[in-house]
Amino acid sequence: MAPINIVVIGGSFAGLHIAHSVLRDVPDAKVTLINPSTSFFWNIAAPRIVAKPTAFRPEQYLLPIKDAFASYRADAFEFLPGTATAIETTAKTVTVKPNEGEAKTLSYDYLVIASGSTTSATNGSLTGTSIPFKQSNHNDMEQLIEAAQGHIAGAKEIVIGGAGPIGVELAGELAEAVERSGNTGKVSITIVSATERVLPMLKSSASAAARKMLEHKNVKVVTSKRVVRVETPADDSSSWTVSLEGGDKLSADLYIPTTGVTPNNSFIPAHLLDKDGWVTVNKEMRVQSTDGSALPIFAAGDITNNSMRLSFKAVEQAQVAAANLKAEIVGGASIKSYNQGDSIMMVVPVGETGGTGQVFGFVPFSFMVKIIKGKHYFIDKAVSALAGKA
Ligand SMILES: Cc1cc2nc3c(=O)[nH]c(=O)nc-3n(C[C@H](O)[C@H](O)[C@H](O)COP(=O)(O)OP(=O)(O)OC[C@H]3O[C@@H](n4cnc5c(N)ncnc54)[C@H](O)[C@@H]3O)c2cc1C
Ligand SMILES: *[C@@H]1O[C@H](CO)[C@@H](O)[C@H](O)[C@H]1NC(C)=O
Ligand SMILES: *[C@@H]1O[C@H](CO)[C@@H](O)[C@H](O)[C@H]1NC(C)=O
Ligand SMILES: *[C@@H]1O[C@H](CO)[C@@H](O)[C@H](O)[C@H]1NC(C)=O
Repeated sequence: MAPINIVVIGGSFAGLHIAHSVLRDVPDAKVTLINPSTSFFWNIAAPRIVAKPTAFRPEQYLLPIKDAFASYRADAFEFLPGTATAIETTAKTVTVKPNEGEAKTLSYDYLVIASGSTTSATNGSLTGTSIPFKQSNHNDMEQLIEAAQGHIAGAKEIVIGGAGPIGVELAGELAEAVERSGNTGKVSITIVSATERVLPMLKSSASAAARKMLEHKNVKVVTSKRVVRVETPADDSSSWTVSLEGGDKLSADLYIPTTGVTPNNSFIPAHLLDKDGWVTVNKEMRVQSTDGSALPIFAAGDITNNSMRLSFKAVEQAQVAAANLKAEIVGGASIKSYNQGDSIMMVVPVGETGGTGQVFGFVPFSFMVKIIKGKHYFIDKAVSALAGKA
């Protein structure tokens, strides 16, 4: 019997989970997984990784993807390092630009879109310095991370744009790194929030706690000021002027934007996207075309139009997508559905000694944040995420 071809685009939380799930349960599946980087990046720990180069070893946060699939039949799985460049839903093909060699076109019976999102700091388009909060578009994560660590270690005036969880975590890590290197007073760290409090999505007592911890670590906290412009004088590309709403200006030798995520959708046909560029899915994680046609395409994770773009939500979506995909192929199993709910679950370390957040409506004690996430940024979970067991 000819194998059932399942092409998975994106090798991170969502795509890895679905690939494993199908391989485990569908005997005649042939899964092709496409991802530009040959390693999975534990980006959850990115704020600490870039600020403290020796906190973790690269092999803890960059894990080879192919090795995690070694236990399946060799002809059931192919890892294709590269980038999907086009999807043809009528012909049921995906065009791929492999990292090496000529472009090729793959036929699929089922397609999974798990291409996630990126941040502007990752590609460095704004300031010329990439701070890799997510996987890049190339197989260059180790070099990007090293370069970012070097830039950060050499910076004297760091401005962080945005005071959501990434901005706050990063500020806490940077402040500790400065303190440990004996540079207190010689390096300034400023975090700029457009809203009147940091972590505006959390309860106000969490915001107040985070602000206090940051200020205790000598981070300057600027609130109610949006960054409107970031520019460099033509004659000196190592210094930046960060202009704030209302006219204030900050000088910086490193500006790190931490707000907003953008969809990795350049290869996805417009009829599968909403107006903001996210892939439209129903509760069963099936991709919905604007023309109403039923497609053998599933999507999961940050790329979908579900608004909670968090790794554990990506995995929840992947569980639903995988179950429904398998049910469609082998028949029988019940249809699962995803509902992101409205409760906020967020744990935000501010350095290694404490932090804040919101869990089941409560603001956790600082020492609990340290125990849950602050000590290790869940780094030991990278292996199970890669194995599709998270
Ligand atoms: C700094 C930072 C800290 C975070 N911390 C937390 C946290 O503590 N807890 C939490 O729950 N969430 C956290 N998140 C959010 C979390 O990272 C995302 O929700 C999660 O990564 C989404 O997983 P995903 O599989 O949907 O997509 P992604 O992780 O975005 O991965 C998508 C993958 O697809 C690949 N890809 C993209 N385009 C193509 C293409 N054309 N062809 C082939 N491959 C492609 C990408 O290279 C990437 O490997 C954090 C995010 C950031 C930026
Ligand atoms: C970064 O992203 C922007 C916007 O998507 C794009 O125009 C630019 O070419 C990218 N830069 C790099 C270095 O990839
Ligand atoms: C993700 O999207 C960003 C912004 O559009 C782009 O710079 C980057 O190359 C994309 N990555 C992939 C893997 O397509
Ligand atoms: C995503 O888009 C689909 C199709 O337009 C819609 O039915 C669904 O409700 C949207 N999901 C969310 C969470 O808004």
